[in-house]
Amino acid sequence: MYLTKEEEKILEGEYGEVMERMFRLLVRLGDIYKAEKMIPVGSVQVAGVSYKSISDPGLEFLEDLASKDAKVKVLTFLNPAGMDLENWDKLGFPRDFAEKQIRIMNAFKKMGIVITSTCTPYLAGNLPRSREHIAWSESSAVSFANSVIGARTNREGGPSALAAAICGRTPYYGLHLWENRQPTIKIEVDARLEFNSDFGALGYYIGKQVKNKIPYFTGIKNANTDQLKALGAAMAASGAVALYHIENLTPESDLISKDNLETINVTQKEIDETYDTLTSGVEPDIVILGCPHASLREISTLASKVKDRKLRKPVWICTSRMMKEAADRMGFTEIIEKAGGYIVADTCMVVSPIEKMGYNTTGVNSGKAANYLPGFCKQKVVFANIDRLLEAIE
Ligand code: F3S
Repeated sequence: MYLTKEEEKILEGEYGEVMERMFRLLVRLGDIYKAEKMIPVGSVQVAGVSYKSISDPGLEFLEDLASKDAKVKVLTFLNPAGMDLENWDKLGFPRDFAEKQIRIMNAFKKMGIVITSTCTPYLAGNLPRSREHIAWSESSAVSFANSVIGARTNREGGPSALAAAICGRTPYYGLHLWENRQPTIKIEVDARLEFNSDFGALGYYIGKQVKNKIPYFTGIKNANTDQLKALGAAMAASGAVALYHIENLTPESDLISKDNLETINVTQKEIDETYDTLTSGVEPDIVILGCPHASLREISTLASKVKDRKLRKPVWICTSRMMKEAADRMGFTEIIEKAGGYIVADTCMVVSPIEKMGYNTTGVNSGKAANYLPGFCKQKVVFANIDRLLEAIE
């Protein structure tokens, strides 16, 4: 790979041991994927934040890096942590877990990373522009950045994202290159897409079929950004889709080549069957919305639906701290809490230890969460739209 004079100096250790170690990791990655050079990145999003995912070895690795004065060079945000960083006690998160999680956050903060823990960084202050090269980790955020914003990122692992943040660079390969952003399969949709969960069901079904291909959708007449994030998250979870295009909706759809694509048809039947496939439980003992992290619009929708209702079981909506603060100001938090719910910030149903908090069956409207909850959190799942879920716990 071509390296600039400055990059060679990094490898010679002129900028310290941490930079050298991190840059070696990026060079190795670039060599594997035959990158011709390194490119600067505009921002980074690092996964591997929850104590549940990284446990003691991860915590020690981060504390070691921070103690050696590792510092990030670009705007860097974090994926969800394992708990609400402010209200963990009130919500029943275990104290020993919380203490370790706080040490993880302190190590990240010492490195200059913004300890905003969210899978929707683009809603919380880390918004790339179209065609900007970035190095993000979280699969749903990668999908949204590539597909809806038109930024360019591969799906980074936790260590390679951290290395990109510390070095301000990433190897130039994969989805950073225009020729690799062309669709490789066409999806013709003829189904009713009304609720966000319908987009989650569609995404789950397609992800399973296409694995890591790049879908080009037709037949989706309209979708707001919440629905697009639900679609992309589910496709990235059940498959490994990091980029998709939708006719007339996503920014690169007019620029790509759509010739000679194999076609998959999706009808209402496949959507309905996906709801059944993803449902393994009968009655939820908690409903958790906000996968990916909820926008203010989704929080306001929940508030309007639970206003003056009293729920028998809790409903959580997971979001970023920024959205939670806006919801507090707008009075949404108060309405949701009065009905028996919580706006839970900084974490989500998959990376928090809900299985240790007495929950066995979780109701979700997210195809991604429905995909992961059985394995990651030993949950039975009820996958349905928001109206059905709220009826089930009223
Ligand atoms: Fe985000 Fe957690 Fe879902 S990280 S995309 S809310 S599984």
